[in-house]
Amino acid sequence: MSSLTDDLQTIQSQSLQEVERIISLEELETLRLKFLGRKDGLLTKVLQALPTLSPAERKDVGRQANEVKKALETALENRRQAIEDAQIAQSLAKESIDLTLPGTPVLRGKLHPLTQVLEEIVSVFTRLGFNLAEGPEVETDDNNFTALNHPPDHPARDAHDTFYLKDLKDESGLPLLLRTHTSPVQIRYMRTHQPPLYIVAPGRVFRHEAVDATHSFVFHQVEGLAVDKDISMADLKGMLTLFAQHLFGPGAEIRFRPSYFPFVEPGIEVDISCTLCGGKGCRVCKQSGWLEMLGAGLVNPNVFRAVGYDPRKVTGYAFGIGVERVAMFKYGVDDMRLFFDNDIRFLQQF
Ligand code: PHE
Repeated sequence: MSSLTDDLQTIQSQSLQEVERIISLEELETLRLKFLGRKDGLLTKVLQALPTLSPAERKDVGRQANEVKKALETALENRRQAIEDAQIAQSLAKESIDLTLPGTPVLRGKLHPLTQVLEEIVSVFTRLGFNLAEGPEVETDDNNFTALNHPPDHPARDAHDTFYLKDLKDESGLPLLLRTHTSPVQIRYMRTHQPPLYIVAPGRVFRHEAVDATHSFVFHQVEGLAVDKDISMADLKGMLTLFAQHLFGPGAEIRFRPSYFPFVEPGIEVDISCTLCGGKGCRVCKQSGWLEMLGAGLVNPNVFRAVGYDPRKVTGYAFGIGVERVAMFKYGVDDMRLFFDNDIRFLQQF
């Protein structure tokens, strides 16, 4: 018998043994090339030598070679299947779901603390019969200042470091500005409504200030305005006492301190008793027992004239509440910047 028969036997036993030891698809391909590769495959070479044999030999060796080839191909295929199955089993084991693990908590959205406080302040007054009014953040010089009894050369304008929008002018050629307070909503409302009127106007206001623990270039106010017959300081005091007690509890007290705002006369600043320490004095109220919370007063007759009301027929009060101040006090937060940083760890607490 030809030596090819021996070769084929060797090839068969050797290749089938090697297949069994293979553990990766790359090795499997290397092995396939070693025996079945088109050019240099060991088995391929035997097949290529067939034409040199006598017809009788060729038949036997040819049959044997085809059997070896089939056996090897089947072994390779089985091995490939086994390796792939093992890989799948392995990754399934790794990715398996442990149903006993705690779930990923879903964070529930909620309103920003400033929005909560702002809505709470507004609701105190709307429940008492005040209407909600709103105005734009970009205002005219007249609405923000002149009609509020701050003529162009009035020194009180200095108290408001104003952002002017140089390139945007109003009808009289004056630059528009970012409102420095919510008081211009008083003007807008009075120019479009007749007394009696009771409104609250919440909103954002802007001042060109350096940011620190108690100052920001953008903050919130809730404006209040009441215009009717015979409105007096006593009405203002009664209303603000109710406000303080709604927000800080039935024991809250208020006190008036004389102050100056061009659009009210007399003008006052209003303090609320510190409910954190019960008025004894603490860090938050700086040992005074009182917290400065808003500006207020009786509407200056010049403001009524500017909107076309007759100051002999109506009187009114106005107040402007600093929302950040209220929120800081209510929650014992000592740095206003925390409200604007939007750190979820801070916001989650409200
Ligand atoms: N607009 C004033 C300010 O921002 C506050 C205020 C409002 C004072 C209403 C009196 C009456 O400084």
